[in-house]
Amino acid sequence: MSGQYQQQYEHFKNDPAQFWLAQSKRIPWFTPPSTAYTQDDNNFYHWFADGQLNTCYLALDHHVDAGFGEQTALIYDSPVTNTKKQYTYAELQHEVAKFAGVMRDLGVEQGDCVVIYMPMIPEAVIGMLACARIGAVHSVVFGGFAAHELAVRIDDAKPKLVLSASCGVEVNTVIEYKPLIDNALALASHKIAHCVIYQREYVTAHLMPGRDINWAEAMQTAQPVAPVALQGDHPLYILYTSGTTGTPKGVVRENAGHAVAMHYSMETVYGMKPGDVFWAASDIGWVVGHSYIVYAPLIYRCTTVLYEGKPVRTPDASAFWRVVAEHKVNALFSAPTAFRAIKKEDPKALGFKQYDTSSLKRLFLAGERLDPPTYNWLKAHTNLPVLDHWWQTETGWAIACNPIGIETLETKPGSATVPTPGFDVQILNMEGEQCAPNESGAVVIKLPLPPGCLPTIWQNDERFKAGYLNEYPGYYLSGDGGYIDDDGYLFIMGRTDDVINVAGHRLSTGEMEEIVASHDAVAECAVFGVNDSLKGQLPMAMIVLKDDCTDEASLVEQQLVTLVREQIGAIACLKTIVHVARLPKTRSGKILRKNLRQLVDGEELNVPSTVDDASIFDEIKSSLVAS
Ligand code: COA
Ligand code: AMP
Repeated sequence: MSGQYQQQYEHFKNDPAQFWLAQSKRIPWFTPPSTAYTQDDNNFYHWFADGQLNTCYLALDHHVDAGFGEQTALIYDSPVTNTKKQYTYAELQHEVAKFAGVMRDLGVEQGDCVVIYMPMIPEAVIGMLACARIGAVHSVVFGGFAAHELAVRIDDAKPKLVLSASCGVEVNTVIEYKPLIDNALALASHKIAHCVIYQREYVTAHLMPGRDINWAEAMQTAQPVAPVALQGDHPLYILYTSGTTGTPKGVVRENAGHAVAMHYSMETVYGMKPGDVFWAASDIGWVVGHSYIVYAPLIYRCTTVLYEGKPVRTPDASAFWRVVAEHKVNALFSAPTAFRAIKKEDPKALGFKQYDTSSLKRLFLAGERLDPPTYNWLKAHTNLPVLDHWWQTETGWAIACNPIGIETLETKPGSATVPTPGFDVQILNMEGEQCAPNESGAVVIKLPLPPGCLPTIWQNDERFKAGYLNEYPGYYLSGDGGYIDDDGYLFIMGRTDDVINVAGHRLSTGEMEEIVASHDAVAECAVFGVNDSLKGQLPMAMIVLKDDCTDEASLVEQQLVTLVREQIGAIACLKTIVHVARLPKTRSGKILRKNLRQLVDGEELNVPSTVDDASIFDEIKSSLVAS
């Protein structure tokens, strides 16, 4: 590579501070920063800490002040409720400023945390931006998580306020949120003063007098509030993500680095222009939703689409193309699993041809590996650039991409293309040495991470060090394995820890294993991810029952499915439980989960020499056939 991308990448590598200071000048500040990054007592990095800005101002007021108040900011399209609604920048600013007033009246101050547990409705976006406006730190919890997960997050984030709605609407069901919230608040030891509940017409939630407030009623009397000036390193939000244990990690995002990175990425990674229509078909509960439904498109003055529906069944596999045609979407971003679902139901992509999709210039895929068959299908049927890019909740934006805003590189199926300027990506072996081209190893990023990435884990600096920094000093450990080929292309091959990716949702098998192990009848167990042609991966549990267990194995299996669903939520999708007589272990007693996965996926078994008794694998094969 010797073109413009390489030049920009070299420019960043030669002087990251200068590179990012130049980028920081492209957004409006109340007080511009004098330095790029600083390090705290832990040596953690913070970007543009002495600058002052407000993310909500950047996303709304700045555009209204510049004369774009009448441009459409947000299009809400909800096939599950048959509703469509649009907000101009001026209208969204008005709603957000007033809702900021509601929160202020409830005593929310700068630095306070607010948990948002909401479906994909405009009020969720309004709540997030209103927090940003007054310097409150939001923590959005995905609506598909069960009460227990919500309680764990409430206890860690310690919010002053919870924002929610009376229900979520799935394809064939209405899910009442209020009982889940009441249950979570009862489970949590942290006590909150108020919940603000948006009553949707499908369910009217019972409001607890004194604690619960009706969203619409509160808005009637609220006074608009102006954006406050915040230091660059003031947290904007916390987003919990799955780690290797049952305790999720609160990824912290700071205002200034995030704003600069979002702005840069819209141009460099997505090749957008202000005024374009950008649609991230994800959920605000995930990082893709935070970055590319809410913040980046608005900061960059695009129109964003908030879609409350699925790629299929709402009503059929042409749903995405209908939205593209109707709202003249210029770029669509979703997870490979969504397109696998469309491909399964509409293999000839007739839906794509049925609608006028001429506005659509590019497709972006992330959240899991873009498997070559899905890439090839999309390419063949849409004839559009199909652009894989790799990122994580921790980074908040793409670590590797095809940098089309700088230069369009040739794509290679299975590769997320090249490191994005800002990310010094390297592959290290177990000894911490650089791997040769095409040699697989741990994918790491040389510190400092660029703006927008996590400075630490919420109130848990030690976990940040232990999970990400200690393994290879001077580098951030991504948790993914992969390699870089002779041309500098990065191939991400999957997680090297107990994290799995189910339909683009990041889940912890370690957490599921803790829940399965807690059942009285289970002596020991292993939970691991196995290949699935639709969802990429699905969890599978193998259990050994206690000798004194008198229940039928099938009954215990059913109870375990229910337990995981109740504790984590339906999205955990743990539906396959296999009862075995014993589990394979090393002589030191470590369960060989990787070999179990290989066995189920029909791969060659790389059994370590330390295995206690290799004949167990034949026994398990028989149990798998029997089940
Ligand atoms: N609230 C409550 N429940 C939810 C939910 C939410 N927000 N989202 C999902 N669920 C439930 C579903 O109703 C389902 O429950 P069920 O087992 O009772 O049927 C379960 O969680 C699994 O949901 P899902 O993973 O969505 O599976 P599905 O079979 O309904 O749909 C796909 C399959 C592929 C269409 C769907 O997973 C999909 O659209 N994936 C793309 C995901 C995505 O965009 N990820 C973001 C990363 S960019
Ligand atoms: P999340 O934090 O939920 O965004 O999940 C991040 C994880 O998803 C990464 O660590 C990868 O394992 C996986 N992932 C995301 N995008 C890609 C991609 N383009 N290719 C391969 N894996 C990906």
